[in-house]
Amino acid sequence: MTTRKCSRNLLLTAFLLLTTYNAEAAPDIGTDFYVTWADRLVESPDGGKTITLSLDYNSGSAIGTTNKYMFGYFSADIKLVGGNSAGTLATFYLKSIGEYAVHDELDFEFLGNSSGQPYALQTNVFANDLGGREQRMNLWFDPTAGFHNYAILWNRHMIIFYVDSTPIRVFPNNNRLGVNYVQSNPMKLYSTIYNADDWVTQGGKVKIDWRWAPFRVTFKNYNLQGCASQMSGATQCSTSWWDEPRYWSLTTGQYDGIKYIQQRYVTYNYCTDLRRNPTPPPECANT
Ligand SMILES: *[C@@H]1O[C@H](CO)[C@@H](O)[C@H](O)[C@H]1NC(C)=O
Repeated sequence: MTTRKCSRNLLLTAFLLLTTYNAEAAPDIGTDFYVTWADRLVESPDGGKTITLSLDYNSGSAIGTTNKYMFGYFSADIKLVGGNSAGTLATFYLKSIGEYAVHDELDFEFLGNSSGQPYALQTNVFANDLGGREQRMNLWFDPTAGFHNYAILWNRHMIIFYVDSTPIRVFPNNNRLGVNYVQSNPMKLYSTIYNADDWVTQGGKVKIDWRWAPFRVTFKNYNLQGCASQMSGATQCSTSWWDEPRYWSLTTGQYDGIKYIQQRYVTYNYCTDLRRNPTPPPECANT
């Protein structure tokens, strides 16, 4: 064998190895989602019904929906990082996409903590580039011990955040008060985990302890019931129960429920942070 032929064979072998490696690296997570960050840290044992995202010293990971949606109901059962999760941030959120889109975003953010210390759940709303609407709460269960359901309902009238089917926060359409609402752009649903130890745990004082890596969060039973928005701008809804009049406003009972949760579990609310908002934003008056 001539040396030239030999090196050609070597190259070919190297090429085959590389392509095989790449094919293996992309996890099978079905067609509803694609990996937006770090193939190697995304796993699914069942073609996308259960998806685990990991964070290691080198990278976090993320998935996003293939479709973008204009209004809908989006939920998943989530089990958060067990043990010492300080400094890690897991998220489940909708975000506007499109080259000229303003920034709209509806967030569930799960703030990790040291072993034995409680996770915090933060929600936030960006409408037309304006965010800064954080609310932070403790949960009435240990979100690392099992799966719990987190959901966002979004129609023209209001946005409701649910934990295990209980509304924990509502953001009504307050256009008439001059408050921007989330209604001009389709959004995609994302799930992520990453290092945010500059702010997550006790305001950034507690850093990630990498001896506990990889940190893993598992999502299952994604429920994507939005109107999938096509490139042409047309939308297709298989159902739109979330747009029925009973979801246009909350009942008095539901409002009372949210008030109860806020009194009992909410530890931070931008509406009552007078240092940050000496005059509470207009939407705070009636929520
Ligand atoms: C973490 O635990 C400490 C101590 O219990 C608590 O003060 C804090 O609010 C918890 N959550 C975060 C995100 O720091």
